[in-house]
Amino acid sequence: MNLDFARSQFPALDGDWVYFDNGGGSQILQPVLNRLQDYLITSNVQLGASYGVSRRAASRLAEAQAAMAVLVNTNDPAEIVMGPSTSVLLRTLAASVGETISPGDEIVVTNADHEANVGPWLALERRGAVLRFWEADPTSGELRLEDLLPLLGPRTRLVSVTHASNILGTINPIRAIADRVHAEGALLCVDGVGYAPHRAVDVGELDVDFYAFSFYKTFGPHHAVLYGRKELLLDLPGQSLSFISEDDVPYKFQPGNVNYELSYSMLGLTDYLTALASGGVGVDALPVAVSRTAIERAFVLIAAHEEVLSRRLLDFLTDRPGVRLLGNVLPDQALRVPIISFVIDGMKSADVVREIDAHRIGIRFGNFHSPRLVRALGLDGDDGVVRVSMVHYNTVEEIDRLTALLDALV
Ligand SMILES: Cc1ncc(COP(=O)(O)O)c(C=O)c1O
Repeated sequence: MNLDFARSQFPALDGDWVYFDNGGGSQILQPVLNRLQDYLITSNVQLGASYGVSRRAASRLAEAQAAMAVLVNTNDPAEIVMGPSTSVLLRTLAASVGETISPGDEIVVTNADHEANVGPWLALERRGAVLRFWEADPTSGELRLEDLLPLLGPRTRLVSVTHASNILGTINPIRAIADRVHAEGALLCVDGVGYAPHRAVDVGELDVDFYAFSFYKTFGPHHAVLYGRKELLLDLPGQSLSFISEDDVPYKFQPGNVNYELSYSMLGLTDYLTALASGGVGVDALPVAVSRTAIERAFVLIAAHEEVLSRRLLDFLTDRPGVRLLGNVLPDQALRVPIISFVIDGMKSADVVREIDAHRIGIRFGNFHSPRLVRALGLDGDDGVVRVSMVHYNTVEEIDRLTALLDALV
């Protein structure tokens, strides 16, 4: 991966801050800002009118919709619902599924997920749904497929699980989960927030029914996407104005409509991935047509660099007296993304982070809105863990800056 090129595309990286809180939110791409500005200057009118600028705005939205379809690897842009956040999109989805629930229907959630993918499903208990928790292994914090199987049965309607843990970085075997869930005739919803900044999302290969992630953690602005299988989106009750047709997908799941400029700006992500795939060549010639091959190539490069980063930090933390490293200790890109959490014996995570704050390195402590997992690991639900969440624009030198400081603490 051409790291210099990658970093040059993120204006915020010009300063001397080290950004290691990317699981909280990543920096934004210049190509995204370019698209945003261009839209607001040349297309900032309401869609649906017959005059030229309105028609241009509509075709730009359609272009963004189509690019996001390529980004998650579906052929049908109607399967792309956009909204302000993953939390809102999952709430909307759960509200819709809730309208189809019969008392006694079962829904499986995990105790290893961000609460955004637990609370909306728990709320369906009020409609008579029976919620079952897929519990993580209390030592490793990881979800084991064999623990899911006894929870599945003829009444299971839906299973909702995260793709990559926002605390451990562990990648869950979504395809294997999908096969088991579908064998029971149930649906699978996946929170891809922790995964999408790191690997190419492929909803076809994963065989998921719903898949959501947030653009502000994927190098864009505060905006999000939900993929839904077309026949399900058509079947489920819409959540918008009463006169919006049930055939009108994805519109019927975008109450209050979608933010046009932020949706359009995400074409900047596919612009960037396309340029990154060719080593940074051709960025001046942007915009270019979105290609799935380029997206996959870009994420192969990203994954390889991320594995180098994971190895560097894990090498420092593993077997270090006084450090409890959480989750998988292997840097293998097939097993994890570069989100690494730990606690230090005898120190509050808050105090560890405060020591680092003064050195212009952004890391973070807490439960990261996954309090059930933190408690299951036997940790303080508020003080939680110290989390270092990296992405591909981070460098080995940045990790060395951090570990030199941690070295003095443990
Ligand atoms: C794994 C995970 N899922 C869901 C969310 C919620 O995303 P949003 O802030 O877009 O609602 C987050 C946010 O931190 C997250 O880390």
